[in-house]
Amino acid sequence: MKYPKEYLDEIKTRLKVSSVVSKVVTLKKRGKEFVGLSPFKNEKTPSFTVNDDKEFYHCFATSEHGNIFDFVMKTQNLRFGEAVKYLANIAGMQPYMFTKQDEEREKKWKEYLSIYNEYVDFYHNEILKNEKYSNARDYLKNRSLGKEEVKKFKIGFIEKNPSYFDKLKKKFSENTLLESGLFYFDEKKNTYVERFRGRLIFPIKNISGQPIALGGRIIENLDYLAKYINSPETNFFKKGSNLYNLDLARKLSNKLDHIFLVEGYMDVVGLSKNGIENVVANLGTSLTDKQILALNQFFEDIIICFDGDESGYKAALRAAENSIKELKPEKQISFLFLPDKEDPDSFVNKNGKNYFLDFTKHNKLSIHQFIFGHYKKQTKNNPSSMAIFEKKLRSIANTIKDNFIKKYVLEYFLEKIEELTPLSNQNTNKYLIKKTKSLESTKKFYNESQGITGVELKEFSLLYLLLNNLSLFQSNIHLVENIKLFTEINKQIFNSVIYKLKSNDHIDVENLNLDKQLLDKINKFAPIKHILKNKPKNENQAIELLDDISKDLFNYDLELRIQELESKFSKDLSETTFNELKELKNERKTN
Ligand code: UTP
Ligand code: MN
Repeated sequence: MKYPKEYLDEIKTRLKVSSVVSKVVTLKKRGKEFVGLSPFKNEKTPSFTVNDDKEFYHCFATSEHGNIFDFVMKTQNLRFGEAVKYLANIAGMQPYMFTKQDEEREKKWKEYLSIYNEYVDFYHNEILKNEKYSNARDYLKNRSLGKEEVKKFKIGFIEKNPSYFDKLKKKFSENTLLESGLFYFDEKKNTYVERFRGRLIFPIKNISGQPIALGGRIIENLDYLAKYINSPETNFFKKGSNLYNLDLARKLSNKLDHIFLVEGYMDVVGLSKNGIENVVANLGTSLTDKQILALNQFFEDIIICFDGDESGYKAALRAAENSIKELKPEKQISFLFLPDKEDPDSFVNKNGKNYFLDFTKHNKLSIHQFIFGHYKKQTKNNPSSMAIFEKKLRSIANTIKDNFIKKYVLEYFLEKIEELTPLSNQNTNKYLIKKTKSLESTKKFYNESQGITGVELKEFSLLYLLLNNLSLFQSNIHLVENIKLFTEINKQIFNSVIYKLKSNDHIDVENLNLDKQLLDKINKFAPIKHILKNKPKNENQAIELLDDISKDLFNYDLELRIQELESKFSKDLSETTFNELKELKNERKTN
């Protein structure tokens, strides 16, 4: 029994070749492809390549070649059916249950495809060649679309009184034709009608590039007709499962890590014409989990860019609240809001590609930033409103399926709320406050030195200690040489002292040639001088003090790195960043 092609395609949509292969072979990205050591041969230099775009792997050492099913069959010694089951499971799909109807369905699928192919080809040729349709060509010209876009998207035009049904009737049953959704039966007139008559048609293709539905736009302004209509759902076209232009856009996933998701057909065509081809549209319905998963399979960042009006904003909010559930480590969903009255098509036509990309770079919001900002706008500065605000954000974070992301989005929300209510949350940054306390109190001690930061004072202490124990640290250079300083000028001095200490020559402060002013400043402000004052020189004490200072400086560095990573993580939600952050936080605990 043969698996239906749709089912196999669905598996392929969900699984990139590289992600299947990388379970067995360590892959490195090289240009458009991935390379690794061949699983079919013992080798030291990689001759195994994977191309997600073309959906195959190729081994130059053994000439093995194939798709994900072949790969699993060969590397795991499985038969086709078993490979399908294995991959369907990884793809999160139900195992396929064969029924008697399957063969029938396979036959219908083939007919369905032939009908669509013939239909789309026919009307595409008509708009290109038929003298009668200059009105449609003029319409396209007015929207500054040329032959190139018409061909790329296989746009067609259907006249007002078409008769293609009769042609198709010679090959297909009336029922099959009805089931395609291209026609309906008009009871009053007792005749079959072409649903898209009088419209420009945009073929909607499945992931493999086969047309399975249409979108149609009227070209005359007739108020009683919807501007756009789409094919109804059919046996082979489910709205929430497809995205317009995914078949072409996904091929760019080797070059680009992000995809624009827009509302309309013309937005896709318009952006593409302007050189932004990594774009899909969600066909006038709200965004589904399935569509997000499909996009995430190919792209790291989904940039949702709806129209710059109220309904676009509302649709974006709906999309955000729905899609945050699917947020995954290493993946991002972002939002781009265009100026009022613009849609992606109008905006890119007015301003061009570079401006559009620049605008994106500076204005896109991550999904959690958008959601936070949206609810913050609706919140007043009173306890009840704040409580509702926090509750809402918590409940949104709770819908996130990935536990790891859930935790962090929640943390992001709560931290941002704390920033809004600093007084009621004084204890939350306990650690940071504690850590900087010693630095702060020393600083207070020297209120004459207002301009000197806590960390500078620490560095002064370090330099003071060093300069007063040159021979001790010359023979214990390992204790000092790796200490990290933060203030540029102190760093320079420190490095030059270390450099001289390493030379093994006898040195004293005079022959170090230090900047006199800085030396004065160190001698005046280094807090440590009060500890050392009036005490006989004691080597052990000096080493202990050095230890304290270097620990403080290390912790200072750690806090800086943690803060930096936290801000990075709130933007990229990447697992790598998270793991680094976790390590640093562990380090902080053990200090
Ligand atoms: P818009 O009304 O924003 O149209 O609908 P547009 O993309 O700017 O198109 P042009 O520039 O006027 O040609 C966006 C999308 O919403 C769906 C369609 O999928 C359309 O592409 N839509 C819109 C409908 O399904 N029916 C409608 O009547 C209007
Ligand atoms: Mn438009």
